[in-house]
Amino acid sequence: MQVQRNNYIYDYSMSPSFNDENSLFNFVVKDGNGVKGLVDSGLTEVPGRYIQPPNQRINKQQAAATSPENMTIDLSELDGPNHDQVVKAIAHAAETLGFFQVVNHGVPLELLDSLKVAAHQFFNQPPEKKAVYLKGVSPSPVVKYGTSFVPEIEKALEWKDYVSMIYTNDEEALKFWPNECKEVALNYIKTSMEMVKRLLQALIENLGVKVEESILDTLLGFKMVNMNFYPTCPNPELTVGVGRHSDMGTLTVLLQDGIGGLYVKKDENSSFGNEEWIEIPPMDGALVINVGDTLQIVSNGRYKSAEHRVRTTNSASRVSVPIFNAPLPMAKIGPLPELVARDGVAKYRELVFQEYMNNFFGKAHQGKKSLDFASI
Ligand code: OGA
Ligand code: NI
Repeated sequence: MQVQRNNYIYDYSMSPSFNDENSLFNFVVKDGNGVKGLVDSGLTEVPGRYIQPPNQRINKQQAAATSPENMTIDLSELDGPNHDQVVKAIAHAAETLGFFQVVNHGVPLELLDSLKVAAHQFFNQPPEKKAVYLKGVSPSPVVKYGTSFVPEIEKALEWKDYVSMIYTNDEEALKFWPNECKEVALNYIKTSMEMVKRLLQALIENLGVKVEESILDTLLGFKMVNMNFYPTCPNPELTVGVGRHSDMGTLTVLLQDGIGGLYVKKDENSSFGNEEWIEIPPMDGALVINVGDTLQIVSNGRYKSAEHRVRTTNSASRVSVPIFNAPLPMAKIGPLPELVARDGVAKYRELVFQEYMNNFFGKAHQGKKSLDFASI
């Protein structure tokens, strides 16, 4: 049986066919079916629009595996006799890989499980339930559902759907965030807040500069929780879940499930094609922390925002739940003056964070090119 609805031809006996690239784009992006809708329609091969150029594909064998213990930090020791050692470990990770994992982070373990369940619940809804949060129709700017990063300008799309929830206050969160995930997402923000602040405090302390508490609050003034959904992919070797990028904020907290596929670039100076990528191994109960561009700017380049990307898989759908901690849009950011004085040079200029955001969301993911906008 074949039915024509809008521009798509649904053939319920076979995979759907799309008249042209436009109808695929409309189906996935504009009508809000997402990659999930594409997979649910029974396709057996990824459409051309999802095929990455060879140099962007992720070869599983290439990635060096690391043992989880190597990059795991126990935060319960931050207040004990090992304080200095723990600060050193956090700083070392932030200066090198820009990624580490934490345990005893203060976020209840049952909440981590509930977040993963809620993410599946949200994305398993029929498309029309999610499409109400699409850009342009969402009842509030604090919630947005979408697919890929900036599909309008990307040549190859990312194999990922997401819902973003911006935190302004509790009332707005509970009023506008989706019912399937609002309570757990709000809880996640609240129970991780103190940990994030302590991590930033430790990192600043390690720079040997004294900053007012208000600076920490400025650097963490904006919080957004995302739920990312990477549907099972028939051709993982041709696609990416997320292309190579760094996060624009200060520190990202990320919960991933047990599927794996999050890779971080090991040496930021390695040449293209000659890179080593490390997989962040899934670890039950742990949270992944990574340095964003803002912290690289503020530390005058001492801490490294991590370049990372996500591979897709054909084993099962993967979910992840990051919290992006960033400055408020109107905040001015730049290298800490004491560091500039000590280093004798400012590597980045001062800017209003909104400008940085506009530049970041105005381009497709391109590794760490985002930082050029702030470079001197
Ligand atoms: C991101 C991101 C990684 C993941 O959302 O910015 O890098 O594991 N996600 O989903
Ligand atoms: Ni990221």
